[in-house]
Amino acid sequence: MNQRIIRYSLWLLIAGAVPACKTQAPSTTASTKVSQSQGVYQYRDEDPSVKPFFSDRVGVMGRNGMVASAHPEASQVGLNILKAGGNAVDAAVAVQFALAVVYPGAGNIGGGGFMVYRDQAGKAYTLDYREKAPGRATQNMYLDSLGNVIPGLSISGHLASGVPGSVDGMVEAHKRFGKLSWAQVLQPAVDLAAKGFALTERDALGLNRIKTDLLKINPGKTYFLKSAAPADTISWHKGDLLVQADLAKTLQRIQGQGRAGFYEGETARLLAQEMVQGKGLITEEDLKSYHATWREPIQAKYKEYNVITMPPTSSGGVALLQMMRFTEPYPLRKWGWNRDSTVQVMIEAERRVYADRAKFLGDPDFVKVPVSQLISPDYLRNRWTDFSWAKATDSRNVKGGMIPGYESLETTHFSVVDKEGNAVSITTTLNGGYGSRVVIGGAGFFMNNEMDDFSVKPGVPNMFGLIGNQANAIAPGKRMLSSMTPTILEKDGKLFMVVGTPGGSTIITSVYQTILNVIEHGMTMQQAVNALKFHHQWLPDKTTFENGAFSEATIQALQGRGYMLEKLTNTLGRMDCVLVRPDGTYEGASDPRADNTARGY
Ligand code: GLY
Repeated sequence: MNQRIIRYSLWLLIAGAVPACKTQAPSTTASTKVSQSQGVYQYRDEDPSVKPFFSDRVGVMGRNGMVASAHPEASQVGLNILKAGGNAVDAAVAVQFALAVVYPGAGNIGGGGFMVYRDQAGKAYTLDYREKAPGRATQNMYLDSLGNVIPGLSISGHLASGVPGSVDGMVEAHKRFGKLSWAQVLQPAVDLAAKGFALTERDALGLNRIKTDLLKINPGKTYFLKSAAPADTISWHKGDLLVQADLAKTLQRIQGQGRAGFYEGETARLLAQEMVQGKGLITEEDLKSYHATWREPIQAKYKEYNVITMPPTSSGGVALLQMMRFTEPYPLRKWGWNRDSTVQVMIEAERRVYADRAKFLGDPDFVKVPVSQLISPDYLRNRWTDFSWAKATDSRNVKGGMIPGYESLETTHFSVVDKEGNAVSITTTLNGGYGSRVVIGGAGFFMNNEMDDFSVKPGVPNMFGLIGNQANAIAPGKRMLSSMTPTILEKDGKLFMVVGTPGGSTIITSVYQTILNVIEHGMTMQQAVNALKFHHQWLPDKTTFENGAFSEATIQALQGRGYMLEKLTNTLGRMDCVLVRPDGTYEGASDPRADNTARGY
């Protein structure tokens, strides 16, 4: 049912769906004080408390290919593959494996992810290589005898892992669309693991931060430790060489044997043995039976754009389209970026969408997910009837909508476009930073803690504060719900934007804002990435925002209408995106909030 391609002419359908009076903003919203000159957004506000951008980084331009990822080494790998004659899928596969070496906090072979692919002719595909619950998993496996959640059990250690999907996903993608040999696209990752790479400062800090956990969860192992001394006296520093000999051997097995190099033989034996030793659940049989799934993309119009995004098992695509549809009738450009009315409409959209996520979304191979109804204008109109300019809607009064008959910030995203215009948008993860922190003995890679993305008990929030229900309950072989939102936009039938980010529950709202920053506020791709972000997820009923994202006027106006606002001490999103400019040049935009890097030529 959700496998149908869903196409709507959004504007025509939803115009009139929202009562006209509701498009009238309260008088506190001034008309826009921003202007666009030569496609570059300029913020003009007399309020010095606003700094719309995290940094003034400018995008990387190229005509022949672009790769934007979380790590400079991985982006360079992708670029080299493109230059060697590989297409976007070859480069994406090479980047996924390179990230598994140079970005162990989220890049992975022990996790899973989602790929949205649009070929040069405009045909779109999505690949679900999300992890699955092991065959011995049970609905209440994280509850004690009184039915209470056992803290940390779904987050840390062997029991927290689902059956990894990344290797099979890459095998599938390459088999169907790759041009270069499998061995060639694997080689850069093998080299990075065997010869080592120089840690960035962020890499070093990340590994130092988890040293205590590494020692506790992996007794007797020395993976990712500069020294096994318990005290923090010997730690990693920027420029240190990280060599991963066992991981290099694992990658060579995958290089030589394809999926069998991971799901069977030595790697599978080591993984299953690790699980037995640590009282985890994954067996060799679970590994052998894992397969990634091609799914029909969700596609929908937003004004003159066609949005191609990920269907369930991720909630990201459905939620993104719901939010875009809620806000489409409103004159955001006229109101201006992060003006009170703009923000109010967006918060109210986010609130309703996350309530729906909790109620309806889960693995479509196990539960009926009413995708087309959830993004239909009639349904969305009904969901908007309690919207009021005067007052924030109370999340306690917002439940998932009614349909007749009837989710660490340490994920990672990368975007690739090749010379021909083939485009790949991939978000992949171990879930929390460094996943379960279990390193497979003899194989040298981190396992995911993706089981926490299930609703371990209805109504009890997961590590992202997301609440779920029966639709996302644990069952053997079932995929846990995700928020990952790899997305591609077309304009006039041509490739326009490749977008995505990590950020757990904040992924969807960051993607949403980044897209609107370009198409509604006229920002360049890099400006849209640099722009400060905010987030609301229904529960808890508050809007978090990056420092400087809102002017005092916006804060006062929103607070006056009952919105609870909380300034973050950390940041939102680590976007890696590509925009095709009107002259056909690619603008690669990487997030200045971390080591993200765009490389193009
Ligand atoms: N593990 C985060 C997500 O899939 O949404």
